[in-house]
Amino acid sequence: MDDAAFRRRYAALRALLNRRSRSLGWRGEPKDLRDGCSYVLGAGGKRVRSVLLVLSCEAVGGSAAEALDAGFAVEALHNFTLVHDDIMDHASSRRGRPTVHMRWDTNTALLVGDVLLGLAYRSLLGTRPGSPGPLARLMTGALLDVCEGQALDMEYERRNDVTIADYFRMIEKKTGRLIAAATEMGAVIGGGTPAQVRALKGFGQHLGLAFQLQDDLLDVVASEHELGKPVGGDIVEGKKTFLLLTAAARARGKDRSLLGHVLRGTAPGMKRTVLVNHVTEIYRRHGVLEDAQHRILRETRSAVRMLGTIPPSEASAMLAWFAGALVHRAS
Ligand code: IPE
Ligand code: IPE
Ligand code: MG
Ligand code: MG
Ligand code: MG
Repeated sequence: MDDAAFRRRYAALRALLNRRSRSLGWRGEPKDLRDGCSYVLGAGGKRVRSVLLVLSCEAVGGSAAEALDAGFAVEALHNFTLVHDDIMDHASSRRGRPTVHMRWDTNTALLVGDVLLGLAYRSLLGTRPGSPGPLARLMTGALLDVCEGQALDMEYERRNDVTIADYFRMIEKKTGRLIAAATEMGAVIGGGTPAQVRALKGFGQHLGLAFQLQDDLLDVVASEHELGKPVGGDIVEGKKTFLLLTAAARARGKDRSLLGHVLRGTAPGMKRTVLVNHVTEIYRRHGVLEDAQHRILRETRSAVRMLGTIPPSEASAMLAWFAGALVHRAS
């Protein structure tokens, strides 16, 4: 398959998952809660986790059809984490639209998240009647780890002694675990051998790290239009990203003093754009953006290497292509 064929297959998978998501929609009450749920599920999104789940299932010999319920489940769970994440991160837009707590209010957003989590489990329990247990265990383990990772992300905002090792532990939990659960669940549904399940889980683990590093990088290098939200949110919130921690270790003089303020969440009374531009310029000058890019490529290569033990197929080639495509994404 060539690049155009991979793109078509990705578009087709996304369309399939979006149709599934609409048909599994929730028709409860009251209206604000119902509208909030369809607002989130209908807002697009790359569908990374569900696409990975379906492809992982196919890569070990399973069919896309049998992976769709679990695919929607991980996607709904992911969307739940985003709605709550936007409250925690004081984010006013996502995917080019106001966030749920801004469009409605915080209580509605909390409940929209809760309903999405409920929908995730409802869908999962519909997978392979009679044996959803192992899948539910995997998804629940990922959910608990995401909660830990998100709590660490919050705690780190208030701490100024966070190390790069702490950062990697945190992103492994908040982002890596769900992506790895998606690839592992796909492999389980497809009836993969234990070695194949381990390989696909490993693929997801490495890809998850690359994915969050890239998300942190895009927060400063992407355009607001493509990102669907203002750039520099992580700087404003004092997030302990790879970029900030690496730059803080390298900078001296005035640069060090400004980054010290960002680290401590006491950024001087600069306008948001001035602060973000200034910090981004420091990142550039200290080669931090290239370093991040380098780590992203390294993790992506490690991910693709894990596919070596999976029999070659269209699906495994597509997984490798998708990993590469995520490195070049703009949002
Ligand atoms: C955003 O996830 C949150 C992270 C874990 C980095 P995505 O970038 O997958 O968000 P959507 O679903 O495509 O909008
Ligand atoms: C979110 O990380 C990770 C989750 C588990 C939701 P971010 O806070 O960086 O995600 P964005 O940038 O808001 O999408
Ligand atoms: Mg966050
Ligand atoms: Mg966020
Ligand atoms: Mg982010």
